[in-house]
Amino acid sequence: MNILAIETSCDETSASLVSNGTKVKSVVISSQIKIHAKYFGVVPELASRAHIENINPVITETLTKAGLSFGTFSKKIDAIAVTVGPGLAGALLVGVIAAKTMASIYHKPLIPVNHLEGHLYSSFIENRSIRPPFLCIIISGGHTELILVEDFGKYKILGATRDDAAGEAFDKAAKMLGLEYPGGPILDKRAEFGNPDAIKFTRPYMKGSWDFSFSGIKTALLNYLKANPVKNKRHLNDICASFRQAIAETICYKAFEAAEKFNLKQIALGGGVSANSLIRKMFDQEGRKNKVKVFIPSLIYCTDNAAMIGCAAYLKQKECGLGLSYTRLQLTPTPSLLLENWY
Ligand code: KG4
Ligand code: ZN
Repeated sequence: MNILAIETSCDETSASLVSNGTKVKSVVISSQIKIHAKYFGVVPELASRAHIENINPVITETLTKAGLSFGTFSKKIDAIAVTVGPGLAGALLVGVIAAKTMASIYHKPLIPVNHLEGHLYSSFIENRSIRPPFLCIIISGGHTELILVEDFGKYKILGATRDDAAGEAFDKAAKMLGLEYPGGPILDKRAEFGNPDAIKFTRPYMKGSWDFSFSGIKTALLNYLKANPVKNKRHLNDICASFRQAIAETICYKAFEAAEKFNLKQIALGGGVSANSLIRKMFDQEGRKNKVKVFIPSLIYCTDNAAMIGCAAYLKQKECGLGLSYTRLQLTPTPSLLLENWY
């Protein structure tokens, strides 16, 4: 089954042509980082406008890269999938309208996908061996969620952040340190050259709960910087390394603790922060030590991308037997869509 998937929930306009859920024939991601960088965060209105400008070129490029055109579309595409939430209302609307328009013109079934389900199944694109039950940790700019995937479409959210998402904490810390936006990847690079034991930031393990809280580490950094302004590059790298260590250890500790408690032998990561080099290394090492299989997507599938939406859409049809209903033209974006809300 060939699915054309569209993702516009935040600041990436993306389309992908995915065959049978895991064969990515093409994926195009147009990032808006340059537009939002000067505001140190995503500006919803600017995001919507950029999606409007990008959506057609991104879809066209996706089809071209897969060797298709609008002329051959009808013959080669079986369904269209689109992210319907959660996300920014205006941003989601652009993707949903594009998907509905194409579904209507070409008489194709339309598959609505929850953005978090995309991240949740992003590991499936490259690993056919993974099957539920497994533990998934979604760590991104907007989410930090520990999810027990009991079966396809059957999820239990064990815990979530009570304040900042992991990516948000990285971005805000980077801003305090005078680094550019988005700070997560820049802080990560600097941390590679620093001493992770230089400053002992507390680890917010939130014992007795599966929730996370990153605002405390952020405040600890702010207080540290007030008392110890950045002296030089070496000092900056040490702060980055120590901050990254605290966040990575917290995430890793909680994930493996949950895996043990629920007797799960597989952990899948998803979301932009799973691109963090220390988090990847730590999960890999802990996985080997604890005999837990760890699935971490390639960098391109960590960030927001339409291939994971195509993969999730396929699994919904195949594994949950939802079948392909015809164009749901009544479909509307749902900015605060919950993971449990299964379409
Ligand atoms: O999943 P994503 O692309 O978009 C959201 O849905 O939020 O995640 C973006 C987040 C940003 O906060 C960014 O700073 C963070 O992921 N991020 C990283 C790294 N690469 C991206 N954080 C830490 N280390 C990285 N290497
Ligand atoms: Zn995301």
